[in-house]
Amino acid sequence: MITKQSPGLKLVLFCMLGVSLVMQGYASEGGKNFSRMANSNGETCVDCHYFMESDTINWNPSAMDLASRAQIYAEDGISKYFTSPEGDVMKKAHDGYQISAGDESGIIAYLADLEGTSPSKVKHVKWRLILFAGMFVLLILLRVEKRRIRVLPKTARMLIRPLIWTVILVIALQDAVGFNRSKNYEPVQPIKFSHSIHYTDNKIDCNYCHSGVTKGKNAGIPPVSLCMNCHKHQQEGTRTGFFELRKIVQAAEDSIPIRWVRVHNLPDFTYFNHMQHVTIGGVECATCHGDVENMHTIKQVEDLSMGWCIDCHDITSVDFSNEYYKLYYPAYLDSLQTGKLDSVMVSDIMGRECAVCHY
Ligand code: HEC
Ligand code: HEC
Ligand code: HEC
Ligand code: HEC
Ligand code: HEC
Ligand code: HEC
Repeated sequence: MITKQSPGLKLVLFCMLGVSLVMQGYASEGGKNFSRMANSNGETCVDCHYFMESDTINWNPSAMDLASRAQIYAEDGISKYFTSPEGDVMKKAHDGYQISAGDESGIIAYLADLEGTSPSKVKHVKWRLILFAGMFVLLILLRVEKRRIRVLPKTARMLIRPLIWTVILVIALQDAVGFNRSKNYEPVQPIKFSHSIHYTDNKIDCNYCHSGVTKGKNAGIPPVSLCMNCHKHQQEGTRTGFFELRKIVQAAEDSIPIRWVRVHNLPDFTYFNHMQHVTIGGVECATCHGDVENMHTIKQVEDLSMGWCIDCHDITSVDFSNEYYKLYYPAYLDSLQTGKLDSVMVSDIMGRECAVCHY
């Protein structure tokens, strides 16, 4: 603790306070400009560079995306993005802006302030987590009350404690059962890669990128080098401009893999094999992954529970024209040929054995 401050230290502290107030002023002015300055279409910065995660994809860089590059703007300025835009998308978006030097430093200070905040935090408050933690705080308070304060009647204490434990157990159990059941999970990915644009608009086959799918257990996520086959040449996107594709070029140059967020994920103790389903079983990707062809961001549509696997195995018949089955299940083939059975279900051949899916 400082008991006696030297005048020098006071002056330094005073100057620091002054600078920080000026920066605060800049930042708050910049924040106002960010939601006020309009281009020739009447759109303000925040109309395009917005904060919230939304249900439809925002092709423009978000305000947080810009904030992550605040350092670069502090060195190079941002007016060049208005006066000499990098490409057609930016030219159109930033058309008609007049940015003074003051506006510029204000906006940069504002973005620097914003750096490190994340959009999801604005939207979802984790009430369950707060409730869960709150219960433990209550337990502690109850204990303090019992030891030190002693105002509650004994019966109240005896009732409240089990009640708290019940709430804790219910939350814990719900989370344990729901563990890994991430139906509708749709995480934000580090690059706005769209299946709809690549598969549906540009006719790129699933196997081109997920080449493991017909050969083995994992479908696999393509490496940056594969993206570069095309994006070496194509560096400006119709919707995203240079911003997203620059991340690919940058990752390829630095040889840093892109950290895609895994969407579908079975627990470690289960075994699932793509080749078996896609090549041998002839199941379409869409049966398990939904309408990926029209998704801009990937979303898990099934719960991937054990019941889901088994339900399908129970109702799906095995195609015995396939040589694989003829070879491995001669007894079933015989029953089918003599008419003893009309169909053989997947569950029949695997006998619902736990060990096929769990090792
Ligand atoms: C141009 C390359 C490319 C093509 C073509 C492509 N994908 Fe993908 N796919 C990716 C990339 C990159 C990811 C990881 C990023 C993401 O999840 O969006 C991915 C992710 C996925 C995922 C989620 C993986 C996870 O994390 O659980 C599924 C499912 C998927 N693709 C299915 C398909 C299907 C089905 C097709 C064909 C209709 C297809 N993909 C075509 C590149 C491609
Ligand atoms: C029978 C259901 C089913 C079918 C059919 C299916 N998948 Fe999957 N897929 C899954 C499951 C389950 C996972 C999660 C696997 C895990 O976590 O081990 C998964 C995971 C993935 C992944 C993520 C990671 C990886 O490398 O496996 C991709 C990519 C993927 N699938 C693409 C495809 C494509 C492309 C097709 C069609 C050619 C396809 N899947 C067909 C059920 C299926
Ligand atoms: C076989 C060629 C090919 C491959 C491989 C490919 N892309 Fe593309 N990509 C395209 C085409 C074509 C477009 C459409 C350009 C447009 O319309 O703007 C595109 C557009 C994009 C866009 C911008 C969308 C927009 O409209 O602004 C992004 C981002 C993108 N790709 C990411 C990736 C990533 C990440 C990979 C690797 C996993 C990848 N691409 C692999 C051909 C490819
Ligand atoms: C109509 C939508 C739109 C409006 C309005 C808009 N922008 Fe942009 N902005 C974009 C798009 C799209 C890009 C990415 C273009 C590209 O990379 O080719 C971009 C790029 C930028 C970049 C450069 C990102 C980088 O690091 O490469 C900055 C900085 C920026 N905008 C700031 C602003 C500011 C400040 C305003 C308001 C004065 C504003 N923008 C208004 C759409 C918009
Ligand atoms: C949409 C239908 C469908 C779903 C969903 C499905 N499967 Fe299958 N599964 C099949 C078909 C069809 C076969 C037959 C192919 C074969 O015999 O290899 C099969 C075969 C298997 C086999 C090989 C059985 C054997 O002895 O050859 C395993 C293991 C398996 N599935 C595991 C899973 C797991 C784990 C899940 C859930 C994560 C799952 N499956 C979800 C349709 C499905
Ligand atoms: C067709 C594949 C398949 C078969 C057969 C299968 N399981 Fe599972 N099992 C799964 C999958 C997938 C999960 C993961 C479910 C999840 O994450 O919610 C799972 C989860 C479990 C769990 C964890 C609890 C839960 O529901 O999450 C237990 C325990 C379990 N299985 C036991 C068994 C036993 C015992 C058998 C044999 C009677 C069996 N399983 C047969 C696919 C299968």
